[in-house]
Amino acid sequence: IASADLRALLLSRIADVPDHPQPGVVFKDITPLLDDPAAFGALTEAFTDLCARYRVDKVVGLEARGFILAAPVALRAGVGFVPVRKAGKLPRATLRQGYELEYGTAEIEIHADALAPGERVLVIDDVLATGGTADAALQLIRRAGAEVAGVAVLLELGFLAGRERLEPGLKGAPLEAL
Ligand code: PRP
Repeated sequence: IASADLRALLLSRIADVPDHPQPGVVFKDITPLLDDPAAFGALTEAFTDLCARYRVDKVVGLEARGFILAAPVALRAGVGFVPVRKAGKLPRATLRQGYELEYGTAEIEIHADALAPGERVLVIDDVLATGGTADAALQLIRRAGAEVAGVAVLLELGFLAGRERLEPGLKGAPLEAL
């Protein structure tokens, strides 16, 4: 599928929900995309192509919608899937990383033994907003001794400048917004 066609298809399956979860916010609902095998399949293929291009050894998905998008990609690419979860959910020894939200802070975790030193990791999520979550995930990956092969998201909300926030943490690795 050509990238302009892919882009149009994906955008047509993302619903804008005004004033959710609070007044003034337009929520990007990807459930119509997940409910359309042609669109979900095309997205999965595009992410999987990135795994080949960046020679990825592991796919990391960010809770919760990142899990849905990343798991089929890992399977297609023939590499492992690793979840990054909100703090307190993973059952075994973890690495934990805090980060700044617009109001307050949050923490995410990865299993301490989930990544091997030197492994090349692609981070997949649905939306890049302020970039705080993805940036914390990059720090976890590096603390685990692995290498950041790139970050890939379905949608980048450019007006929130997540790309700028993420740039130092990427250290030259690509950020792909499909
Ligand atoms: C959303 C989205 C990203 C993150 C992006 O997840 O799925 O993971 O926020 O925001 P940021 O770039 O400003 O960090 P959310 O925290 O709503 O979690 P959920 O998917 O579990 O609902």
